[in-house]
Amino acid sequence: MRKHIVAGNWKMHKTNSETLTLLNEILAKKKESKTEIIVAPTFVNLKAANDCVNGKGITVAAQNMHQAEGGAFTGEIAANMLTDINVKTVILGHSERRAYFHETDGQLADKVNTALKHEMRVIFCFGEELKDRQKENHFNIVEYQLRDALFHLEKKDWANIVLAYEPVWAIGTGETASPEQAQEMHQFIRNLIAKVYGSEIADNVSILYGGSVKPNNAQEIFSKPDVDGGLIGGASLHADDFLAIVNAF
Ligand code: G3P
Repeated sequence: MRKHIVAGNWKMHKTNSETLTLLNEILAKKKESKTEIIVAPTFVNLKAANDCVNGKGITVAAQNMHQAEGGAFTGEIAANMLTDINVKTVILGHSERRAYFHETDGQLADKVNTALKHEMRVIFCFGEELKDRQKENHFNIVEYQLRDALFHLEKKDWANIVLAYEPVWAIGTGETASPEQAQEMHQFIRNLIAKVYGSEIADNVSILYGGSVKPNNAQEIFSKPDVDGGLIGGASLHADDFLAIVNAF
């Protein structure tokens, strides 16, 4: 059975002390839940965050990593530097990485391979831009992104893959995809995976929705059969809002 997951992508926010303050508030306020809670602070705060929540029902994830396993890549982070501090989940392919740092599907395929080689779990982000949806090309775009970055994987690899569909036009805009739009795309994605890998793999992969998920829309989005949770940006920076979304299942 696939898992419900709510992951907070903190992006470039929170100092070390702010990270610990937020995490301790989340720990103090969180209720027992079958939903997996993931938080993704910035690199400099990962170890402190992991030390703070370890064994307390919250998983810490990195927001990115390099595809090389070390070397002359100034400013980058290698997989073993994350697993060495017990961070074994990594977000890859976020639209902001694709837009601002020009990450390609090919590069992302290499990052996914390196992460899996290091037995990490990948939260793989993808999604169309507004112009694609306006031209009704969004299904093709999503299919290309998945095929180019993931469909070289073997069936066994999918145990460590979480998908995050994030329509770019909904990220940080307050313009959320409707629950029907989210369900339509998630169902398309699951059917595509079933076609390529079979229904057992497709039925067990968690597909998260990301893009302006808030306490007032989470329940309706998460009620859809092929939505298995969310990848949350702005709302994850506030304990009450984030936990309201976690509790929306
Ligand atoms: O990775 C999640 C993020 O892109 C969504 O951001 O602020 O629209 O929830 P936000």
